[in-house]
Formats: sequence, structure tokens, C-alpha cells
Amino acid sequence: MRIRVIHGPNLNLLGLREPGIYGSTTLDQLNAELVTVGQSLGAVVEPFQSNHEGDLVGWIQSAQADGVGGIVLNPAAYTHTSIAIRDALSAVRVPAIEVHLSNVHAREPFRHVSVTAPVCVGQISGLGASGYALAIRYLIERAA
Ligand code: DQA
Repeated sequence: MRIRVIHGPNLNLLGLREPGIYGSTTLDQLNAELVTVGQSLGAVVEPFQSNHEGDLVGWIQSAQADGVGGIVLNPAAYTHTSIAIRDALSAVRVPAIEVHLSNVHAREPFRHVSVTAPVCVGQISGLGASGYALAIRYLIERAA
């Protein structure tokens, strides 16, 4: 099973960016950990990151044609604004889990709204890097 992990804008700065909120793990370290988690469960994890909305839309759209079985997506700030990402998630028949490192519901009111979560299977928020591994594990179990 292939699982696509998509990181949105500013997540390339993980480890440096507001570590009190987002932790000290870098994106490379996180991705390496997720690839290992996938391997231990017999899945291939393919991580992507972009600061550009259209790239995220493209990787969601191509997931189906590429035979991807599940998407783990942290749309970052686009969570709160991007109808284009929401529509891409609706357009493909690939289950997606939305993940946030921080608990968006405990932060500023503008972060309480996710336009993308309603078209995902579920949302994990506030569990730090563990949220991604849990989402991968769930997608594998769901497909079994
Ligand atoms: C985030 C939360 C978003 O509100 C924020 O814009 C991010 C990161 C998180 O992982 O906690 O960039 O998605």
C-alpha cells in the first residue's frame, strides 16, 4: 500500500519555526520516521511538501491515478482557507486524514475552522509528530 504524506506551507521550517508550538523535530527527521513506520507496517510512505497551493492540489489529484491507498495531509494555513484543496480531496476516491501538530481548536479563533476536514475521514490535532504515525497506522488498518 502506498500512503502519500502531504505537508503544506511553512512546514519546511519545522524544527526552527515556533518550536514551542510545533516541536523541535525537523521535516526531514519527521519524514524519515514516517517512512520507517510505513515500512514496519508493510506500506510505502511518500512524503511531499510545498508552500504552493497548486502543488498540494496536484499531489492530491494524482494520488488516485498513482494507486495511492491513503493520504495524510497537513494543509497548514490552507486548512482555514483553501476551497481548492477541499475540492481536490472531494474529487479523488482516496481516503484522507487531516493532521495538525498543534491543537488548532485551542488556538486563535481563525484556526478553529477547517474547510478541508469535512471531506476527510477524520482529523488529528494536537498530538505533535505522533499524529502522522497514528494516521498512517489507521489508513493501513482501514484498508485491510
Ligand atoms: C498547523 C496549524 C495551522 O493553523 C498553521 O497554519 C500551520 C500548522 C499545525 O500543524 O498545527 O501552519 O497545520
